[in-house]
Amino acid sequence: MFKKLAIGAAFAFALAPAASYAAGGGEQHIEDFHFSFEGPFGTWDQNQLQRGLQVYTEVCAACHGLRYVPLRDLEALGYSEEEVIAYAAGNFEVFDPELDDFRPAIPTDHFPANDGVGAPDLSLMAKARAGFHGPYGLGINQFFKGMGGAEYIASLLDGYTGHEKEEAGTILYENTAFPGGWISMAPPLAEDQVEFADGHPATVEALSEDIAAFLMWTAEPKMMERKYSGFVGVIFLSLLSVLLYLVNKRLWAGVKGKKTV
Ligand code: HEC
Repeated sequence: MFKKLAIGAAFAFALAPAASYAAGGGEQHIEDFHFSFEGPFGTWDQNQLQRGLQVYTEVCAACHGLRYVPLRDLEALGYSEEEVIAYAAGNFEVFDPELDDFRPAIPTDHFPANDGVGAPDLSLMAKARAGFHGPYGLGINQFFKGMGGAEYIASLLDGYTGHEKEEAGTILYENTAFPGGWISMAPPLAEDQVEFADGHPATVEALSEDIAAFLMWTAEPKMMERKYSGFVGVIFLSLLSVLLYLVNKRLWAGVKGKKTV
């Protein structure tokens, strides 16, 4: 009994630094948004991804690149080949070393990189950030809620408090989701900043969710295929377990009943 208590206490002390570390990163607030792609059977909401692409094109592309995403992949969002050609040519110019000049983008190009203002590339951002770390920095929440990359992005965009301060010549904006609480990106979204063809509401929260879902897609375009093969794998392994159990029973049947001398 005493031994058990002692072990428990030692364990608690070992965890204490992890707890204070998590608390030291500023009071981060990540909203647990419900995205359609969550859970083992979740799927993309194609309309949402299209809205997210529009938000990226009209707002985020001014500062952020998507350099790992080929434009032709947009066909997965339900666009036809012609629409992708028109979108690429209409929105982006890429440098062509053969022409030694810029030309309109074509579907085989990637979205351009954008290093203009030092903003990070967003292609893999939804996989590079975790929304949920706790409790006590153990990450147990991630079993139940997922890694929370998309939740982090949506909470970041929707997490500005309106306060700002200047530090060493840079203006910092207070944000409840950003670790440390102050980010140098000015609030990029405002209500009705983007107008959707289907009249979908464009509050800051709705826009944040749409762009976060789109960035989840850019970071993991094959998520549905991954879930599907995982599902098939689980079914296959369950069947295999049953078969192995029966084979085992049969193999040892002759030995089991007998008395040993
Ligand atoms: C005016 C330029 C500008 C625009 C427009 C802009 N950003 Fe940023 N963004 C930045 C800069 C600069 C940083 C780096 C901020 C820092 O590290 O303090 C940043 C950082 C980020 C980060 C990374 C935060 C982290 O955890 O490190 C994300 C995610 C992000 N932006 C998403 C977006 C999205 C989505 C949009 C479009 C809705 C957008 N940004 C529009 C300039 C911009």
